[in-house]
Amino acid sequence: MPKILTLPGLIDVHTHLREPGATQKEDFESGTKAAIAGGYTAILDMPNNPIPTISEEALKQKIKLATGRIYSDLGFHFGATPANYPVFEKIKDKVFGLKVYMNYTTGDLLMEDMNALEEVFSKWPKGKVIMVHAEGETLKKAVNLAKKYHQRLHVCHISLKKEIEAVKQAKKEGLDISCEVSCHHLFLNSDDVKRLGPFGCMRPPLSSKEDQQALWDNLDYIDMIASDHAPHTRQEKETPGKIVNGVPGLETSLPILLTAVAEGKLTIDRLIQLTNKNPRRIFKIPEQADTEIEVDLNEQYTINHKQLFTKCKWTPFEGMEVQGKVKKVVLRGKTVFDQGRVIGPYGQVIFPEMV
Ligand code: NCD
Ligand code: ZN
Ligand code: ZN
Ligand code: ZN
Repeated sequence: MPKILTLPGLIDVHTHLREPGATQKEDFESGTKAAIAGGYTAILDMPNNPIPTISEEALKQKIKLATGRIYSDLGFHFGATPANYPVFEKIKDKVFGLKVYMNYTTGDLLMEDMNALEEVFSKWPKGKVIMVHAEGETLKKAVNLAKKYHQRLHVCHISLKKEIEAVKQAKKEGLDISCEVSCHHLFLNSDDVKRLGPFGCMRPPLSSKEDQQALWDNLDYIDMIASDHAPHTRQEKETPGKIVNGVPGLETSLPILLTAVAEGKLTIDRLIQLTNKNPRRIFKIPEQADTEIEVDLNEQYTINHKQLFTKCKWTPFEGMEVQGKVKKVVLRGKTVFDQGRVIGPYGQVIFPEMV
């Protein structure tokens, strides 16, 4: 028997749509179709493209390329470099957050120099989010910078016990800090690396069972679940001698989370907080009127790459049995997903709510 439940559209603050510059992996059309099919009605795109979003021109280019072609709503983050703080004031109202890459990952935006980091943290407009890719010990550096310059810090893809402990500590001290966790770090661990090969490689890497358990044990301190949808082609993933980091996630996160609900690991209310309410509040995402999704809490199926809209057409969750299926998505009163079909494009480029 179907058990249909209506939920608010999911919001993802951490997506890599790869356009411009790497559209063999994903583009605005395929990526926002994947979002809609996965139950996401608004997503935020990361700046680490081959042509990175680090200038006013690059941002305008993304907005222009996306306009009229997107199926979900789509907003953008800006990338920090050691030299681009003079444009912060000009772009601040158009982007949701400033992304600072403090460890090595896909793209060319690594920033390790302390003077440059101080510059960025001191110049970013107060009250707007600074998002960090800061793993392990590096996270302490980010927390100290946020403290020193009274900045709002958002920690991307927490994966280690010591990271969630550091966030917990900073929250107890009253720091304005939030964090996200990705489904691959909640539902996979280092034991899966052998089986998955290159398709289990991402930054931060899959962690130990103990670290994975620490995320579940500290779910109360986690503000949101983000997909870190980071598609690469199969061919790129399988090139010998090359490690390409990142896995897609937009279409698997909700069914996997609904399965966790069915198993009693998560309540529906908490799921809504983690995937809609908190991301909307923390990143000031505008309300979407007449927008909702319908899921069947009872429908069981096996995750299969053939059913995915992402251009990369693979998933680290291939073969997983899930319970909970996205049946219908309504965006501003229009049905945009029904019977497995994505309809549109009816998405809009979005900008942060002014307060
Ligand atoms: C991301 C990518 O490919 O853009 N890769 C990843 O492994 N997570 C970059 C990132 O989020 O660090
Ligand atoms: Zn990252
Ligand atoms: Zn990412
Ligand atoms: Zn196939």
